[in-house]
Amino acid sequence: MVTLGFIGAGPVGTTFGVRLAQKGYPVVGVTDKHQAAAEGFAGRVPGSRVYAAGQALADAAEMVFITTADDVIAAVASGLTWRRGQTVVHCSGASTVEVLEGARRQGAAVGSIHPCQSFAGIEQAIANLPGSTFAIEAEEPVKTTLTDMARALDGAIVHLSSEDKVLYHAAAAIACNYFVTIEKLATDLWRNFGKTPADGVRAYLPLLRGTLANIETVGFPGCLTGPIARGDVATVRRHLSSLQKHAPDMLALYKALGRFTVPIGEEKGGLSAEKAAELRRLLAEQG
Ligand SMILES: NC(=O)c1ccc[n+]([C@@H]2O[C@H](COP(=O)([O-])OP(=O)(O)OC[C@H]3O[C@@H](n4cnc5c(N)ncnc54)[C@H](OP(=O)(O)O)[C@@H]3O)[C@@H](O)[C@H]2O)c1
Repeated sequence: MVTLGFIGAGPVGTTFGVRLAQKGYPVVGVTDKHQAAAEGFAGRVPGSRVYAAGQALADAAEMVFITTADDVIAAVASGLTWRRGQTVVHCSGASTVEVLEGARRQGAAVGSIHPCQSFAGIEQAIANLPGSTFAIEAEEPVKTTLTDMARALDGAIVHLSSEDKVLYHAAAAIACNYFVTIEKLATDLWRNFGKTPADGVRAYLPLLRGTLANIETVGFPGCLTGPIARGDVATVRRHLSSLQKHAPDMLALYKALGRFTVPIGEEKGGLSAEKAAELRRLLAEQG
């Protein structure tokens, strides 16, 4: 197996280091601007050590992961000396392998492996990584090496081209980040009837777990419930007047999401053409 090194000991670099070492990949070490972060990595990854600078780490490893923030990957790749036969990889979802051009030009092979997972902290990230989907952008032989790594982490695999990469990442932002935003907005509304957002979180967690289970077991469109799925126009009208009164800045979002929900209800079959047309008029951008 190739020897691995990591530049950047944030949640992603540390998690890959820990989990790949557990699967038998030899991890030689890590470097990070923050000594404490690098030591945290080395303390968790047996056999690895802290390197004082990126060049020493790059000289020591056959495959180097640049797990810094996206906007410095290109500068790190072009600021170091690489050798033929070496591989340089990043884990960004939005950036393509183009940002590793500085290393490729020197003869290194390049690739990217993006874990479709949310890394809010190191311990939580280590727990969540196995079983994630990994989006891989690389040419052979790096494509096979990264695919084998994803399999070792019990992951599902999607191979993407450079052209697919940004749309893939925008979709993940809608599915994950905007989901967080929607839950925050919904639980903040609880203040309007004398409860706390924490009360809302407590109420919604079982609801959300049930909904996720329905997406998994029933799938789209059958998992959609609620007034739009039932064609309950009067309830949607009452929602709109309540939001107009208590949270008028939420009306545009409610209507926009409602307009995307109507076709799901139609596809499910519980929504007649007449009710769907009525809902579309009610949820139109203006009025
Ligand atoms: N977080 C997620 O949920 C997630 C999910 C999937 C993929 N990713 C991708 O994974 C990559 C890493 O993400 P992350 O959240 O682990 O990043 P992060 O929290 O920003 O950690 C990166 C670490 O690298 C350090 N660093 C920056 N420039 C450096 C340099 N030139 N040399 C050595 N160390 C350097 C940073 O220090 P400073 O903080 O001082 O800059 C920080 O300690 C990114 O490409 C990201 O897009 C993230």
